[in-house]
Amino acid sequence: MSVIAAIEDDPDEVFPPYLYEAYRSTLARAPSQPLVDLIPTLSEITGPGPAVSAVTPQDADLTTNSGTGHPAIGERMIVTGRVLGSGGDAVGHTLVEVWQANAAGRYIHRDDQHHAPLDPNFLGIGRCLTDGNGWYRLLTIRPGPYPWRNHPNAWRPAHIHFSVFGPSIQSRLVTQMYFPGDPLHALDPIFNAIPSAAARSRLIAEYDHDITEEEWALGYRFDIVVDGPAATPFDNGHGL
Ligand SMILES: [Fe+2]
Repeated sequence: MSVIAAIEDDPDEVFPPYLYEAYRSTLARAPSQPLVDLIPTLSEITGPGPAVSAVTPQDADLTTNSGTGHPAIGERMIVTGRVLGSGGDAVGHTLVEVWQANAAGRYIHRDDQHHAPLDPNFLGIGRCLTDGNGWYRLLTIRPGPYPWRNHPNAWRPAHIHFSVFGPSIQSRLVTQMYFPGDPLHALDPIFNAIPSAAARSRLIAEYDHDITEEEWALGYRFDIVVDGPAATPFDNGHGL
């Protein structure tokens, strides 16, 4: 077994701790008492589950799903990849949801009063189902970095929030996708709360010229592994 594999067998190296002082809000929300196991109820583990029948092909195109008839402003890009289990097995027909800031780094949210323009043609939300081989595919625009007041001159690296639903609300996993070569990675407490460099690297999408479409959009590959030693770090694995 390689050193990296040995390290990553330990979930504490993959998932962020509940308390990470540099990420200030964890000081307020990290548990101060030992956790108590709860037995999930039948409705929590069986349903109602995602409303997969409500997902339409239009939901996967964040550049047009505002419904205004005008495209979102920004650098158009394709984000695609596979959702996989620990053995590389496909997680098919599962709901993938994303949310993100617009090209200027602004969310449509009342708490986001960052001095950057809103785009009336960009909602910042999208979703799709994986196919039988675990593939998902989204068309969106590249999000901008944004300030977040965690510390002086704090800026989040550009990122897209991902949720993989699984069969019920109990199995939902949430993470963030980052972009290669971003100088803000080294300065970001959320990214760096993930203990191992190998695990952090699994949150960075890979530019893929085979996905890029001529005169249309750049292509990025982002696989999500939901389980096992090579798991993608998730927000609710060990906290954050
Ligand atoms: Fe964000």
